[in-house]
Amino acid sequence: MSTALREPADAPAVIRSQCFHLYYGSVHALKGIDLDVPSKRILAIVGPSGCGKSTFLRAMNRMHDRVPNVRMEGTIAFDGQDIYSPSVDVVDLRRRVGMVFQKPVAFPMNVYDNIAYGPRLHGLTHSRAQLDALVEQSLRLAGLWDEVSDGLRRPAVSLSGGQLQRLAIARALAVSPEVILLDEPTSAIDPIGTARIEETLQRLAGDYTIVLVTHNLQQAARISDRTAFFLNGELIEEGPTETLFHRPRDPRTDEYLTGRYGAGGGA
Ligand SMILES: Nc1ncnc2c1ncn2[C@@H]1O[C@H](COP(=O)(O)OP(=O)(O)OP(=O)(O)O)[C@@H](O)[C@H]1O
Ligand SMILES: [Mg+2]
Repeated sequence: MSTALREPADAPAVIRSQCFHLYYGSVHALKGIDLDVPSKRILAIVGPSGCGKSTFLRAMNRMHDRVPNVRMEGTIAFDGQDIYSPSVDVVDLRRRVGMVFQKPVAFPMNVYDNIAYGPRLHGLTHSRAQLDALVEQSLRLAGLWDEVSDGLRRPAVSLSGGQLQRLAIARALAVSPEVILLDEPTSAIDPIGTARIEETLQRLAGDYTIVLVTHNLQQAARISDRTAFFLNGELIEEGPTETLFHRPRDPRTDEYLTGRYGAGGGA
């Protein structure tokens, strides 16, 4: 199934998926995905609803582990090691490969404790001053500090949707991840909030590896370095975003990007 059109990246792969298949019972949701996630870049994953974007994103930090009837074949390696190998500590993997979901979720605690939760769990700091500094740094990186610095003790649920999503990004950053996976992080956010999140992701891309699943093709075009197009569980084409959007090589990519996909009675 390694037929996807791919172009070599200008950065080494941090995560490498090789001939990766995933089945939900009899549903063959991912069909032999060969995909490299380049270091310190933004990789966008696009494709129609049900094509396997979330399934693939979740596979990269083992979120299917406890889902019944899921079967996988092939490998996903992070930093050269198969993440499904029995020697891998899932808690550590999820610290190094963080996840931000579509619906902004706050833990039922104040802003400070939302960010401090991960560092406390992983024992990353040794004093209150260190923890304070880490909370501030994470909120600054996520572009939220100026809006919450005088209200760190207010309940996180009182933040707006866009602020909550940046809080989720700050929470992921607080445990010093190497990769951040985001599943449609702006689909429930207004345009101004979306712009703030896009700015944050672009700023982070110099230091972190980012994988962004999005239905918003303009967003992928605006901020990603590379784009992968999935269709019916297959990776059809992957390459520099500019190339994929302007000179797609597979007619199915072109159809999807120009909005013709499905218009003729297809899936
Ligand atoms: N827990 C599950 N059990 C059975 N089938 C599932 C499960 N989760 C997803 N699927 C199926 O796997 C396929 C891929 O789903 P997935 O959620 O990865 O798609 P997606 O590209 O993220 O779609 P969307 O854009 O709508 O979020 C779909 O056919 C879906 O119905
Ligand atoms: Mg999805």
